[in-house]
Amino acid sequence: MVFFFSSTVALLSLLSLPHLISASVAYCSNEEYESGALGQSPYQTYNAAPYKPVQLNYALPPADCPSNSQVSGYLMFSPLGDDLTMTGGGYTMNPNGTMVYFSSGFGARVILRGVFTYQGEDHLGIWVSDGTNTVPAGHGSGWNILLDRTYNVAAKITTSGLTVGADLHELHVTTNNTAIITAFPTDETDLSAYGGSKVGYILNPVAQEIDIATGKAIFTWKALDHISPSECYAPFGTSSTGYGTATDPWDYFHMNSIQKNDDGTYLISSRHCHTLYLVDSAGDILWRMGGKNSNFTMNDGANFTWQHHARFRGPGQLSVFDNGATDWEQDIPYSQGLLLDYDESAMTVSLSSTRAPYNRTNTVSQGSVELLSDGNSIVGWGAMPYISGHDQSGEIMWSAQFAVAGSGISSYRSFLQDWTGRPSIPPSMKVTSPFSNNITVYAWWNGATEVVSWELLGSRLISPLKTTSLANASKTDFETALVYSGSGYTYYQVAAHTANGEILSYSNFTALDGTTFGPAENQTITAAPLS
Ligand SMILES: *[C@@H]1O[C@H](CO)[C@@H](O)[C@H](O)[C@H]1NC(C)=O
Ligand SMILES: *[C@@H]1O[C@H](CO)[C@@H](O)[C@H](O)[C@H]1NC(C)=O
Ligand SMILES: *[C@@H]1O[C@H](CO)[C@@H](O)[C@H](O)[C@H]1NC(C)=O
Ligand SMILES: *[C@@H]1O[C@H](CO)[C@@H](O)[C@H](O)[C@H]1NC(C)=O
Ligand SMILES: *[C@@H]1O[C@H](CO)[C@@H](O)[C@H](O)[C@H]1NC(C)=O
Ligand SMILES: *[C@@H]1O[C@H](CO)[C@@H](O)[C@H](O)[C@H]1NC(C)=O
Ligand SMILES: *[C@@H]1O[C@H](CO)[C@@H](O)[C@H](O)[C@H]1NC(C)=O
Ligand SMILES: *[C@@H]1O[C@H](CO)[C@@H](O)[C@H](O)[C@H]1NC(C)=O
Ligand SMILES: *[C@@H]1O[C@H](CO)[C@@H](O)[C@H](O)[C@H]1NC(C)=O
Repeated sequence: MVFFFSSTVALLSLLSLPHLISASVAYCSNEEYESGALGQSPYQTYNAAPYKPVQLNYALPPADCPSNSQVSGYLMFSPLGDDLTMTGGGYTMNPNGTMVYFSSGFGARVILRGVFTYQGEDHLGIWVSDGTNTVPAGHGSGWNILLDRTYNVAAKITTSGLTVGADLHELHVTTNNTAIITAFPTDETDLSAYGGSKVGYILNPVAQEIDIATGKAIFTWKALDHISPSECYAPFGTSSTGYGTATDPWDYFHMNSIQKNDDGTYLISSRHCHTLYLVDSAGDILWRMGGKNSNFTMNDGANFTWQHHARFRGPGQLSVFDNGATDWEQDIPYSQGLLLDYDESAMTVSLSSTRAPYNRTNTVSQGSVELLSDGNSIVGWGAMPYISGHDQSGEIMWSAQFAVAGSGISSYRSFLQDWTGRPSIPPSMKVTSPFSNNITVYAWWNGATEVVSWELLGSRLISPLKTTSLANASKTDFETALVYSGSGYTYYQVAAHTANGEILSYSNFTALDGTTFGPAENQTITAAPLS
């Protein structure tokens, strides 16, 4: 009896231990994850695929956790931070926490920016920097790329006529196939009025619109030409805002979002001036919303400070992530995603709805608000490593974390978006023979969204490579194991199947000793090309 009792207890406690190794789906209300007992950045591992993606935990779980089947699309986010095990890429993940794509291989620092329509087709936008030229911290000089649905680079986008490349704060592709980007050059200026030197240095952020095909700038707006530092709130001469020197310029304005509208105007957000500026194509300011010189009366609850990601959301409506905090100041109890109604004749702004965070925390930097077509919304909590879903009234429905709160791991913006990817690079595989007469093959295909099952094929000879079907397995995670209990085949290959059993791609052949060969001749891809 005693033996049975204690072994049951032992078994139960074993089962409740965190399954850190090879966890494949999101955890649900895992308190050890939240508390940091599993480390600052719990991660997943695979048997063969060389990736260690972050492990999700639904701190506020949906009813069907981990599926979260009420949302459709992919979570797209880009963790940055010292404690990450895998760096240099952003993620596309299923809502259940299994990885679909890790955007590595482009540069040292990579931010996945979501899906954009370019030349009539979906593209993934990615900001890349080689890791140099990131002074001061929080900015970057790099470039943007647009990947087509085969993950080939369709466009490379950077600044034109400036001393620095594209910064990480904005990428937005317009209906005219132009890109809206930010840049943060340092300019010399007289800072004596603010406590600095006569020969002082300031970050003078630039909004540029670039014609993607030619790389030419068709609009360039430099903050300091239009906005005096006296209009802003970031103190001069602190470690967070800069001391006004050439290597530590004053970050007076901090441009962090730009939206180009169909009427040719630009909505520019300045975090450090607490203001959204509507600017015309000549660069003139049509109005200011928020801040010291607001043209709008900000009604109760409609005011914001240190904000991010301002976007028009239809006539008379816009969304903004109200940090209400920086690392040196906290204005409100917790950060929030706002939907605001504005009236350009009465010049008033009113609160439509708020989105509050799980655990009522504030986010000292970064953040985003995405409005979905059904009126629900997704909030990325920036410096807090959480992504949450909200209903039409703004009530929180679920919240997923991709690292421990306070770990210093952040995601600049986070989205839920639809995407179809069919990589031009064939699937990857690894052949293992753990037991005699037992071949286990691991298959994966980074970025492929259409694979529903994998087929294992074998050939006895290298010439001709004549294949026999050995096994099938449905795909439920990034990596899939296929097991063949038998012998007699020396060369193995995997084929990726759609839901209809059509073949999307064949991998190369791999011999039992790991040597790889090209694919067989004349193997037919039966899936229709992407339309
Ligand atoms: C697209 O180009 C047209 C014609 O120049 C212009 O009127 C419109 O404002 C542009 N829209 C955007 C979003 O750039
Ligand atoms: C906004 O306010 C400025 C003065 O602060 C004024 O010159 C300008 O006309 C106002 N614009 C609108 C659209 O009210
Ligand atoms: C908005 O205004 C209210 C009332 O003045 C104030 O309590 C609150 O802190 C302000 N919000 C922000 C984000 O500053
Ligand atoms: C909620 O946030 C507070 C303050 O950051 C923290 O001390 C607490 O552990 C958090 N609670 C949970 C359940 O994460
Ligand atoms: C083959 O190996 C796999 C593990 O790789 C194991 O799950 C399976 O039971 C083995 N089958 C046989 C017939 O040995
Ligand atoms: C695997 O599935 C394909 C059809 O999708 C079928 O032709 C093949 O025979 C199956 N292989 C095995 C070993 O069952
Ligand atoms: C995770 O979600 C994806 C997309 O819905 C699904 O294809 C996959 O089977 C799920 N995996 C698990 C382990 O539930
Ligand atoms: C697949 O084979 C082709 C042709 O031999 C070769 O160019 C390519 O590098 C191989 N790919 C992999 C992943 O082994
Ligand atoms: C592949 O197709 C070409 C053209 O139809 C043919 O000449 C060649 O013999 C085929 N190769 C194999 C291995 O069947």
